[in-house]
Amino acid sequence: MFIRRPPRWVMPERDATPESIFLNRRQLLGATGIGLLAANVPSTVRASNYDTSPEVAAELYPARQNANYLLDRELSPSRDVLTYNNFYEFGSHKDIWERAQNLPVKPWMVKIDGMVAKPIEIEAEDLIRKMPIEERLYRHRCVEAWSMAVPWTGFPLKELVKLAEPQAGAKYLEMRCFMKPDVARGQRQRWYPWPYLEGLRLDEATNDLAFIATGIYGKPIVKQMGAPLRLAVPWKYGFKSIKSIVQFTFVDKQPMSFWEQLQSREYGFYANVNPEVDHPRWSQATEKPLGQNNRVPTLLYNGYAEEVAELYKNMDPSKIFY
Ligand code: MTE
Repeated sequence: MFIRRPPRWVMPERDATPESIFLNRRQLLGATGIGLLAANVPSTVRASNYDTSPEVAAELYPARQNANYLLDRELSPSRDVLTYNNFYEFGSHKDIWERAQNLPVKPWMVKIDGMVAKPIEIEAEDLIRKMPIEERLYRHRCVEAWSMAVPWTGFPLKELVKLAEPQAGAKYLEMRCFMKPDVARGQRQRWYPWPYLEGLRLDEATNDLAFIATGIYGKPIVKQMGAPLRLAVPWKYGFKSIKSIVQFTFVDKQPMSFWEQLQSREYGFYANVNPEVDHPRWSQATEKPLGQNNRVPTLLYNGYAEEVAELYKNMDPSKIFY
């Protein structure tokens, strides 16, 4: 359950590093020039850290934790989180983290366009530097019924919306992933409607919870998790949280997202988590947290009802939970 007060339990060092240690490490970093390492991650995974410039890594990570976004559960072990991924651009199975290392992420140009005051194109690190960076502990519930609890670093999506100055007629924000079939071999599979695309209604995009992750476990985000910019909307099924975004476009029509194009009966636009609305092929009542052998009950809006239920109060429930 999501709460708004600091947790009483102590986070194990293997899962998260307290800020004081982060800060000491940052000083150490300055002295040694060595990247931050998360405990308990295989060395091969460590090598996969997003190759951000060392100055940006030292300047921004780890970020101060926002005490409004904590959890009542332990964080998932980083080893599991960093090696069990969905990133269909690199294959339709979970073991893609090594392949994802082929993705060149620097420079990474991002377009912010569509119905905005002035379209811009900006390099990801320049964008990140303009934003208020903080750490938030979020839950993540995949539609496939596995889940995780992770410390993201990043900035509220509403800050990007503010920067863009959308026109009055803009109603949705469409987000597009890269298209690079030379390195992302999954994109050679022509039956998928590449590039991966997702969308949010503008009031969803400006909800406090909507977050752009640029880091994880106190350091720059790894490629397999969506470097350099990845959406985190924890009240929705995980497929809404698009990775490696290259374009934010403000539009007046509801975007048709990647999975919706493939199978609209199973993957709708809203995709809000609800344990009482089953996927056509399996139950959504429980989930399996990464790194655990048990299942736990799934919560309405993944535990964030207090923050987001208001967004849907006048809507037909049959439209918002699939
Ligand atoms: N973004 C892109 N570009 N490609 C994808 O295949 N998969 C989605 C989402 N974002 C996906 C994506 C799905 S189905 C899930 S559950 C989450 O990413 C998984 O995020 P993780 O691998 O960081 O846990």
